[in-house]
Amino acid sequence: MNNAYLAHLINSIFISAASTEAGLHKQYLLFRQSPPTQTCPLFRILSFLLLYLREKVGEIMPVDIEQLKTIIRNAGELIKHVRLSPEQIHSKDNRLDFVTKYDVVVQNFLELHFRANWPDYPFIGEEQEEHEFGQKGFIVDPIDGTTNFILGIPHYSISVAVMEEGKIVQGVVYSPALDEMFWAKSGKGAYLNSERLQNPDLPFAETVIGIGSSPYNESLREPTLAMIGEIMKRTDIRCLGSSALDLCYVAGGKQGGYFEYEINPWDIAAGMLIAREAGATVTTIDGKEPPLDRTLTILAAGPKIYAEMREILSF
Ligand code: IPD
Ligand code: CA
Repeated sequence: MNNAYLAHLINSIFISAASTEAGLHKQYLLFRQSPPTQTCPLFRILSFLLLYLREKVGEIMPVDIEQLKTIIRNAGELIKHVRLSPEQIHSKDNRLDFVTKYDVVVQNFLELHFRANWPDYPFIGEEQEEHEFGQKGFIVDPIDGTTNFILGIPHYSISVAVMEEGKIVQGVVYSPALDEMFWAKSGKGAYLNSERLQNPDLPFAETVIGIGSSPYNESLREPTLAMIGEIMKRTDIRCLGSSALDLCYVAGGKQGGYFEYEINPWDIAAGMLIAREAGATVTTIDGKEPPLDRTLTILAAGPKIYAEMREILSF
């Protein structure tokens, strides 16, 4: 038995174990309405055992996007039937910035599975206390659209980007409520489930523009409202509340564009690749490559609207 075969075998065992574990979590949820924030001890022991075996085999596994999607779909199962109780919701530094028990559940689930499958890829997740950005690894928002999730609005997503040599090479954004899996690989196109996405490059008059309200920074309220005023001279707006999905909607043409004055890398890293692979242009609002190690501004649109949005934003 050669090393590659053995590594493949170990991966298959791991994925089966992961699916079983997600199933168990789901059953637990249905009965108790509240899952454990940590994965079960048996699964942890199994993970360590498999990790040990994989190290012995010495094979570095590239991130397989099908395997990645399976893990993310399983994570979605953990949250799609949840009804939150007040003690499961907490404010962060800002009164509008929330975290729920389930943001942590999903992050822990993804971290455990990613580390077990791809141990040489560092993990950055929104709910970590410190974020150690580098040139390689996973950039994860366990729930993008937490406020929607809290309110019972089914528009939220799990966002996972894979970075190599400082560039996003794979992106997955999953909407558990709609079972919509947006994904892209660098140079290989963007997809919704198995359907290829192509940005239709519409003019303003034939579409709407997604607005990110930068809710955690009060000083951005005035410029955001001014920008909305300018856009509404041209067309209608939407403010849907998940920037990862905003970018996916630009990719497929449900929204002609999207912009936000302040956003974090985990909100946009995966969606940015998906939008670009579908032919949309994505930059900061001053036309630069979006940095992925700090807060940033973001502008995404089909080429026609992008050019006009840049003109509006430069005033
Ligand atoms: C937020 C959402 C929202 C955007 C905020 C983000 P979170 O992410 O993407 O659409 O307007 O700027 O912070 O906090 O739900 O992960
Ligand atoms: Ca989040």
